[in-house]
Amino acid sequence: MNYSELYESQVKSYCRSFPCVFDKAKGSFIFSDSGDKYIDFFDGAGALNYGHNNDYIKDKVIDYLSDDGIIHALDMFTAAKESFLEKFHQSVLSKLGDYKVQFCGPTGTNANEAALKLARKITGRTTVFAFTGSFHGMSLGSMSVTSGVEIRNSAGVPLDNVVFMPYCAGSGFEFDTLDYMENILNDDHSGVDIPAAVIFETVQAEGGINVADIEWLKRLEHICEKYGILTICDEIQVGCGRTGDFYSFERAGIHPDLISSSKSISGYGFPMSILLIKSKYDIWEPAEHNGTFRGNQIAFVSAKAALEFREKNNLKNEVERKAVIISDFLEKELLPLNSEISFRGIGMIWGVDFSKIDATGELTHIIASDCFKKRLIIERAGRHDTVLKIMPALTIEDDVLLEGLEIIKASAIDSLTKIR
Ligand SMILES: Cc1ncc(COP(=O)(O)O)c(C=O)c1O
Repeated sequence: MNYSELYESQVKSYCRSFPCVFDKAKGSFIFSDSGDKYIDFFDGAGALNYGHNNDYIKDKVIDYLSDDGIIHALDMFTAAKESFLEKFHQSVLSKLGDYKVQFCGPTGTNANEAALKLARKITGRTTVFAFTGSFHGMSLGSMSVTSGVEIRNSAGVPLDNVVFMPYCAGSGFEFDTLDYMENILNDDHSGVDIPAAVIFETVQAEGGINVADIEWLKRLEHICEKYGILTICDEIQVGCGRTGDFYSFERAGIHPDLISSSKSISGYGFPMSILLIKSKYDIWEPAEHNGTFRGNQIAFVSAKAALEFREKNNLKNEVERKAVIISDFLEKELLPLNSEISFRGIGMIWGVDFSKIDATGELTHIIASDCFKKRLIIERAGRHDTVLKIMPALTIEDDVLLEGLEIIKASAIDSLTKIR
């Protein structure tokens, strides 16, 4: 029994899957207070793309703290913000096009709230299209565009002004989902208003690692342009290099009107959340989306260092190389275990789907728990959590990556025999 068990609210969640007290962490390892060493395939739900306590980033943060750099400044001009914006523009923004950066409240969901508000303000419309299988956060606006029934039920109020369209993958629809969407938009008897925006992930992470293909993303953008609908791309989990490019939509050559970015944007696990806005749509009044913690100065320092680290270490190539290691392993070692297992993914986010063997999620629960016993931290995703989510740090060493994958294999073998 620890103090968290005694005093922390029932709302706690991840500690239930990983029941021990963590103390230290380095790279792709987390250590418990009793000294046990775990390989981390969870990666702070995508907030630790550069690994735990990355030395390059840490040194810059320590220097800033030692120098009494300003820590809290709301959204005043600061040297740390200036340096971040200069680097972010040089490394990322200048390649994307003409975007402004809005600093939002510290979590990802606040960037999505800002995006939804702004899209409605720009267009004067109220409805938004979201996709089946989506996850966008736990505040009311973000929940309204999130598909999972348990999340939606927790809102306590109707989550309206949203229409769900079938996503291109993972939803079980066999038809062309964009044909369907276009038909709805075209049909003056569809009963559905033209929306202000379409909010989408290019890879649904919580939704079960559903990867949208390039043609689908291009066509989605094309349809939105045709009907004057804004595109909001949620890059919160799969951005910041996870799929190879800095932002996951870049592979499709599209230019979303609004881009929400958080989690690994600070590079060190510090809270930070931004919304990128095409300049012509930056029509906010001053303070129209305000907040005390918009502009975490330490996060600006670490975010700049993270971009430098990414370039110095050629992380895009590293991700592409390690993607092959993961997919080869899954194909050669996991698929032969049972013909009903499948896998999918891109870059360094992969899902192993056990739903055809057990649609209730019991099997993946057994496997993930067994992985934890074997010292691997791994989460589940998708419908009824039937997909094991492989999401290591982009910096993970090859041998550690393979060690973690071997643990998944061993746990799958043990667990499959248990449910037979
Ligand atoms: C795609 C996506 N959007 C939004 C969020 C919400 O981010 P936060 O938990 O920081 O509010 C998440 C969190 O997992 C996410 O994966």
